[in-house]
Amino acid sequence: MPKHSQWLRPLVLASSLLLLCGCVSTSPVSGDDELFVALGGEPDLRLLVDEFIAVSAPDPRVAPTFANTEMKRFREKFYEHLCELSGGPCVYSGDPMAEVHRGLKINEGQFNAVVENLQIAMSRRGYPQPVQNRLLARLAPFQRDIVVQPGNSD
Ligand code: HEM
Repeated sequence: MPKHSQWLRPLVLASSLLLLCGCVSTSPVSGDDELFVALGGEPDLRLLVDEFIAVSAPDPRVAPTFANTEMKRFREKFYEHLCELSGGPCVYSGDPMAEVHRGLKINEGQFNAVVENLQIAMSRRGYPQPVQNRLLARLAPFQRDIVVQPGNSD
């Protein structure tokens, strides 16, 4: 056996194992797209975003904050965010949550209003409660980046 194959063999074995277990991937998909699938994938998730916007537009707790927002961009970025969060094949291309919401002085009541509106939208779209809960659980940690913290004026 040629001498170099002594160190080549473990390398070949290691890369074969990596390929077999699917560890090597150029795709942004994490592998767990179960929630994204349960939400109906891209078409249904886009319809959910539309429903959420329709529910929020007349809501006085939320609407004034969006007065100067370009809604076409919001619709797209909010979709991307939910898609990525649920394990879908998207990469969120918007700005970081803390940066986007800084300066808007969003309080806990407004955050809860958005969660409530999303729940209404999900119910209207016919999602079962466990699916709703799973999406909401993934959104909950963003509260600290979005709601203005006591002692912090922005
Ligand atoms: C879990 C809760 C929330 C999530 C996941 C979320 C997510 C997002 C995303 C993805 C964007 C687009 C970012 C971009 O354009 O780069 C955005 C923008 C925005 N969000 Fe939120 N948001 C949440 C809660 C809230 C709440 C409670 C309010 C206030 C009622 C709010 C008000 C806004 C406004 C006004 C914009 C547009 C800012 C602009 O015009 O530049 N968001 N949000």
